[in-house]
Amino acid sequence: MAGMGARLVAFAAAVLAAATCAGAGVTSEYRRKLEATVDMPLDADVFRVPPGYNAPQQVHITLGDQTGTAMTVSWVTADELGSSTVKYGRSPDKLKRTAEGSHTLYEYFNYTSGFIHHCTLTNLQHGSKYYYAVGFGHTVRTFSFTTPPKPGPDAPFKFGLIGDLGQTFDSNSTLVHYEENGGDAVLFMGDLSYADNYPLHDNNRWDTWARFVERSVAYQPWIWTTGNHELDFEPDLGETTPFKPFTHRYPTPFRAAASTEPFWYSVKIASAHVVVLASYSAYGKYTPQWRWLQDELTKRVDRKVTPWLIVLMHSPWYNSNNYHYMEGETMRVQFEQWLVDAKVDLVLAGHVHSYERSRRFSNIDYNIVNGKATPRPNEHAPVYVTIGDGGNIEGIANNFSSPQPAYSAFREASFGHATLEIKNRTHAYFAWHRNHDGAKAVADAVWLTNRYWMPTADDA
Ligand SMILES: *[C@@H]1O[C@H](CO)[C@@H](O)[C@H](O)[C@H]1NC(C)=O
Ligand SMILES: *[C@@H]1O[C@H](CO)[C@@H](O)[C@H](O)[C@H]1NC(C)=O
Ligand SMILES: *[C@@H]1O[C@H](CO)[C@@H](O)[C@H](O)[C@H]1NC(C)=O
Ligand SMILES: *[C@@H]1O[C@H](CO)[C@@H](O)[C@H](O)[C@H]1NC(C)=O
Ligand SMILES: [Fe+2]
Repeated sequence: MAGMGARLVAFAAAVLAAATCAGAGVTSEYRRKLEATVDMPLDADVFRVPPGYNAPQQVHITLGDQTGTAMTVSWVTADELGSSTVKYGRSPDKLKRTAEGSHTLYEYFNYTSGFIHHCTLTNLQHGSKYYYAVGFGHTVRTFSFTTPPKPGPDAPFKFGLIGDLGQTFDSNSTLVHYEENGGDAVLFMGDLSYADNYPLHDNNRWDTWARFVERSVAYQPWIWTTGNHELDFEPDLGETTPFKPFTHRYPTPFRAAASTEPFWYSVKIASAHVVVLASYSAYGKYTPQWRWLQDELTKRVDRKVTPWLIVLMHSPWYNSNNYHYMEGETMRVQFEQWLVDAKVDLVLAGHVHSYERSRRFSNIDYNIVNGKATPRPNEHAPVYVTIGDGGNIEGIANNFSSPQPAYSAFREASFGHATLEIKNRTHAYFAWHRNHDGAKAVADAVWLTNRYWMPTADDA
């Protein structure tokens, strides 16, 4: 550690001397209140079961194909099976079209889920508002969403970026602030409910979480990444199928993305090609994920149509927090060269419960004998953002390594979320919003320049 630290200091000095990038990174001294984060109680307003016999609850949507001409609607009924039908249309009082879904349920130790319905609406038009209703036969509830614009190089879009949300009072303020900022879809970097922090992984906390976020995710698609809190692998409880609650509850459009598992896939939203990777599924050479990613990056990305190449994962590759230090390292070693070759614009991760943004750096020269282990500035490399600061029950990760490594541009131990506003093929505005004890505040922001269309321009 000491040797590494000394090398980083020497290296930081060299970078400053070379002046190829902005000055020393910022470790923000801002500190949120330090009371423990606690989950909202089971009788909290946000967890209320909607009124009416067998009323659909936990309604959520995600893309049903790669670009949003299909949308998958999911919900739970608790009293009896009920209907898996969705009626939908362009006008709230004329839901002329009908789609028939299916249902599933699962057991986890001594918990039995409600009836979980999934129904994919197809043949939607891009950039159009739809209304949809579920719960036929008993209590009907109506919602709406707007499909993303057709993929195209200058199609603007505003993403919300959230990770490690959980269901504490802080999680609620993160969601409130995101709603105030008004994004069109959420890229979610994994760790949803934190139900596994409870005895027996109390799966009722999967239900409360889904009721909590319904107010956003019933109206706009959230794109799901798997985190370690989705594993729910607990041999002591006889639960040996990883991701059991997650896979029953949260479908992903992986087949449309030529993937063979729901945990790694891609979507093309407006001018962005979003690749979702799975930190907790095999990614070594020759594995299904490795083969899929190779084909994805070399054959299926077209920057002329979707200039913005964004990669999501749970465990960060560049993380200067002592919390979860180096956990993403094996995946970085496996895939970083590919991401640099592909000129990825932005890599988003969660897992570490604080915020950090990197400069464009890479560490691809290293091999086991040459000793070149220090990350170096690289204009073709992505910006890495760690945004596992959604506000979950495990609290804030406020122990950053010192000195701040040269690759780290800004880091702060506060809860919050970010937005990414893609303006056109060359420019996107990234802003991190700290929860700031109640009022949202922009604490870090940067204009990103596209790595395909403006490969040598600095971010500002
Ligand atoms: C969560 O936030 C919403 C929106 O501001 C608010 O109405 C609700 O009372 C909050 N719930 C809790 C338990 O803090
Ligand atoms: C499951 O088992 C726990 C521990 O024995 C118990 O407290 C809980 O009530 C049980 N739940 C159900 C639904 O049986
Ligand atoms: C911060 O992390 C370092 C390295 O893991 C550890 O030695 C130190 O005790 C930690 N400090 C606190 C206050 O937890
Ligand atoms: C792209 O958007 C940026 C930021 O709004 C703007 O400065 C730039 O002129 C735009 N480029 C084109 C070609 O419109
Ligand atoms: Fe995590």
